[in-house]
Amino acid sequence: MARLDVTETFHGIMFPGHLHTQDSLSYATDFKFQDTDTLIVTYPKSGTTWMQEIVTLMRCKGHPETSKAKPNWARAPWIEQHYCPDVLSASQGPRLLTTHLPYQLLANALHGSKAKVLYLARNPKDVLVSYYHFHKMAKFLSASESFPGFLSAFLNGKLHYGSWFDHVKDWTSNSKNIQNFLYVTYEEMWMDLPRSVQKVSQFLVCPLLEEELTNIQKVCSFNSMKENSMVNYTLISQDIMDHSKSRFMRKGEIGDWVNTFSMEQNRKFDDVYASKMADSSLTFVWYKPGQETFSKSGMEIDIKPLT
Ligand code: A3P
Repeated sequence: MARLDVTETFHGIMFPGHLHTQDSLSYATDFKFQDTDTLIVTYPKSGTTWMQEIVTLMRCKGHPETSKAKPNWARAPWIEQHYCPDVLSASQGPRLLTTHLPYQLLANALHGSKAKVLYLARNPKDVLVSYYHFHKMAKFLSASESFPGFLSAFLNGKLHYGSWFDHVKDWTSNSKNIQNFLYVTYEEMWMDLPRSVQKVSQFLVCPLLEEELTNIQKVCSFNSMKENSMVNYTLISQDIMDHSKSRFMRKGEIGDWVNTFSMEQNRKFDDVYASKMADSSLTFVWYKPGQETFSKSGMEIDIKPLT
């Protein structure tokens, strides 16, 4: 299934045809959740692979046997991607599932379910920059002409998988309709991984010994995952993901956006963010602790809290 140039539009949202069909998207919206399922929900580039690795390791008590032997998409399949039914029919035990779908498309399927839903969010400026680089490497996403054009498409919700703003607001504001819901951010994982892993382990009722927690931290560190072919996407052919354009495990930083945004772009982003998030109480960490006020490119960035 190459279909690299195909885009599927489903309920007004674009999805890459390389991974999705109308049937696979309908399969996801009608998905039969089991109460023992764990569903990782993210907007792309929010740290999905990292959370897949953490939960995989947690279930193996910190032993890397599964995470070093089975690709992430085969142990935590995206329910909307075409291969999902095959993966699930070949797997046993409690299922770990992933989705990038917006809340509205899964609301019915999740209604009344006791499946555990783990929503992982990341500050949208870093999501945007990560997504921009991902478009350069992923041949199934239309190549982004320029950063300014990509920024506008992001702010207008015109990228594949839809609007970041709608995604994060709709999932979090509807969390009360989901019986088991946990909200985690990329930044809290980055700043205090042991605490975040404990938080997830409590939610999944998967207690960990000190030694198991230490092992998880080692195996899911950025440097370790960067070298793990089961999560760094080097198993995928160069025709589909061109690692010479960008690496999947690219930087793994908080606040990397300051190296790409101009002051003007930052202002524009902040204005749109303020208007679109006016009805949300979510807050994000925008800078790495101790980050300087100047980007490496010498461009001064306004360090001002976003509310
Ligand atoms: P960058 O492009 O900013 O480096 P997703 O899995 O949702 O596609 O997200 C990919 C982003 O998560 C990439 O961000 C990647 O480097 C980052 N990431 C993956 N594993 C990580 C880890 N162990 N620690 C920190 N960042 C990680």
